Amino acid sequence: MALLPILHYPDERLHRVAAPVGDINDRIRQLVRDMAETMYAAPGIGLAATQVDVHEQVIVIDLSETRDRLQVFINPVILERRGEAEFEEGCLSVPGIYETVTRANWIRAEAFDAQGQRFTLEADGLLAVCIQHEMDHLQGRVFVEYLSRLKQSRIVAKLKKNQRRAL
Ligand code: NI
Repeated sequence: MALLPILHYPDERLHRVAAPVGDINDRIRQLVRDMAETMYAAPGIGLAATQVDVHEQVIVIDLSETRDRLQVFINPVILERRGEAEFEEGCLSVPGIYETVTRANWIRAEAFDAQGQRFTLEADGLLAVCIQHEMDHLQGRVFVEYLSRLKQSRIVAKLKKNQRRAL
C-alpha cells in the first residue's frame, strides 16, 4: 500500500474530467486500497481519484466513527435526487477551508464496487452530500466553485499564505 500525494486547489489537474473505469481489475483494486489508506491517513471522510491525480471514476468514502466501513464507488451515476440540504463542507484538496454548500438532501445512486458488482444505494444527509461532493471532483469541480468569485479569490489567497507559512 502507498500514501498518494493529494492535489491542492487551485491546481489545474483538479479540473480534469475523469474517464469511466473500463475493467475493474487488480490495478483498480490497488488504487482503491491506496486511496483508502490516503483518506484514512489525511484524515478525511471521502476521496476522489482526481484528488490523487488519477483521472478515472473511483471514489472512496468512510463516514463511520470506527473508520472500518469503507464504501467504494466506481463509475457512479446519480439516478434521482430530491430536496435540498445545506452542509458546511471541507475538502482534503482545500485544507483549512469550510464553507456552506447547498446540495440535494436525498439521492439514489448506482455504481460498481471493487469486485465489479453493480449496486444501487439510497442516501440522505451527510452520505448524500459526500457522494455528490466526490462525484463533483470526478467532473473536475471543487466545492469552492459554488461560492462567489470574491470568496474564491479570498480562499486562493489564504491557501497561498498558508503554504508560504508551511515552508
Ligand atoms: Ni473534496
